[in-house]
Amino acid sequence: MCGIVGYIGNKPAVDILINGLHQLEYRGYDSAGVALQCEDKINIYKAEGKLENLSSELTLHKREFENATMGIGHIRWATHGAPTVINAHPHTCNCGSLVIVHNGIIENHKELKALLEKKGAKFRSQTDTETVAHLIAYKYEQTRNLTEAVRLATKEIEGAYALCVMHKNEKNKLVATKRNAPLLVGVGEGEYFVASDVPATIPYTKKAMYLHDNEIVTLTLNGMKLINPDGIELAQKIETLPWEPVALSKMGYKHFMLKEIHEQPDVIRNILVGKLHCAEENISLNEVKLTKDTLKELNRIQIIACGTSLHAAMVGKYIIENFCGIAVDVEASSEYIYRKTVTDSKTLVIGVSQSGETADTLTAIKQSKAKGSHILIITNRPDSAMAREADSLLSVNAGIEVSVAATKSYIAQLVSFYLLALYMAEIKGSLDNATLQSIKTDLMIVPQKIEQILSNKESIQQCARHYANTKDFIYIARGINYPTALEGALKLKEISYINATGYPAGELKHGPIAMLDESMPVLSILMKGSVYEKLLSNSEEAKARNARMIALTNSKDEKLKELFEFIIEVPDIQELLSPIIAIIPLQLIAYYISEYLGKDVDQPRNLAKSVTVE
Ligand code: G6P
Repeated sequence: MCGIVGYIGNKPAVDILINGLHQLEYRGYDSAGVALQCEDKINIYKAEGKLENLSSELTLHKREFENATMGIGHIRWATHGAPTVINAHPHTCNCGSLVIVHNGIIENHKELKALLEKKGAKFRSQTDTETVAHLIAYKYEQTRNLTEAVRLATKEIEGAYALCVMHKNEKNKLVATKRNAPLLVGVGEGEYFVASDVPATIPYTKKAMYLHDNEIVTLTLNGMKLINPDGIELAQKIETLPWEPVALSKMGYKHFMLKEIHEQPDVIRNILVGKLHCAEENISLNEVKLTKDTLKELNRIQIIACGTSLHAAMVGKYIIENFCGIAVDVEASSEYIYRKTVTDSKTLVIGVSQSGETADTLTAIKQSKAKGSHILIITNRPDSAMAREADSLLSVNAGIEVSVAATKSYIAQLVSFYLLALYMAEIKGSLDNATLQSIKTDLMIVPQKIEQILSNKESIQQCARHYANTKDFIYIARGINYPTALEGALKLKEISYINATGYPAGELKHGPIAMLDESMPVLSILMKGSVYEKLLSNSEEAKARNARMIALTNSKDEKLKELFEFIIEVPDIQELLSPIIAIIPLQLIAYYISEYLGKDVDQPRNLAKSVTVE
């Protein structure tokens, strides 16, 4: 949500800023802007909507900033005030000398605004951010030092922020700081890049320094200086990032989502390396820092997550209970944080998050940590705020996921849950050897099975086209694949805007069946195993109400052809592992419907990949 970029160096700043903002588009936004240091003033350009609108605006004015080699930029996802040009960042003080971009929410903005208005600040926008511009400008009047002004101002700000600031009088200087919002500095040769996330810096340099909360960095053409909130200079921790620029290209695929779906077999192989060597050996999971004794004694686990990660958590609950016999609760973070939760030092709390920045999950984790629970984080971003809260960190290593709709990170979270559940089962001795070995053997060949589905995706594309014009879509399943139904429906909703819902099939007759008629597609996730026959009966019930029946199945039963108008066949797999296989065609159905309808697959309307507000 919102993205910040900044550049100081010797190249044309505008190209780097716009390119950086494009790389952050996945975060979700509805307006954009840049500020460029020109001869004797700072010029600001903003536009509503997509970055193309900002680029058109810039083209009209390009003579004004062609020599600019320093600037800041922003994409805004509206929270305080509509997505208008006035509310778009950068924001300034009264005279336009002090310019800032901000990501996060200033909680005490009303109080600060009242104080600043008394001192003469004239507010133009409805944003919380503008208060910070006036506040820093006020501190600057007193100190005449931009870094010091930022340092003093941030002491009075409550809430979350990543800020990048420039001042007309301090040419060739950028100041950046953060609290509870991500920010890093890309370190090039005689140039620096500020960004909310790695994709904006990695095309230029692999060297980066992550800012920690409350640290303030000052960037000039002569170098950078890092200080703590007391003004004490800190050592710089520049690291070489493991990301490759190629990870950010579509590699010939039409959309990032399709590329990321195809990466899934390798994502799984990657996770298994070093953790699962062969079926006869125990799972190796050094990341789990709980002692074996504590693990054996655990009698309760809570898993907290949002969105797609929540669905991975639901599969996690199923397998941990099944493999380890430990009671597991799963809850949406946004619900968890507003009730009295029973959590203590004997509870293991697992937070699941692709981004590691989701505000609700982060708050939930902090709450449980304060109560003394061991915190295990499953995330794709070991550099994230959530990772820093972890007592145990399971990094899923799916690589940067650009498409807003999560696919490969979901698969990576699922596989991480399997490894964790197997690991705990081995320590507890809660599964017999034959079962353990059979699950491990089959887990190792899951990537090939996914490859089989991907090499036969034309039939799934055909199915998607057949139903693309529907207004509603129902997914039904039971048992371990109920979360698969929820995730399949979420994928379709997110990127095609079709009203899709996942139900536990047994619940159909308690209400949803009233919705069924000849216009309603019902997709039944019919994987062989304990609930197969039951689900078949539920599918019959739906068929009897004339619903348009689709099966996603690993069964070769010929009789299915009488019941279903479309059958998507997937390779055979044991029931306990079937969620990893069953979700692939559902991701593809959502993708192909969205693409067929001409929707913005990778950046669906209103959504953000990293939801940093509660
Ligand atoms: C947003 C994204 C979803 C994601 C959810 C949780 O809503 O659009 O794709 O599942 O946040 O994000 P997290 O990063 O915590 O997994």
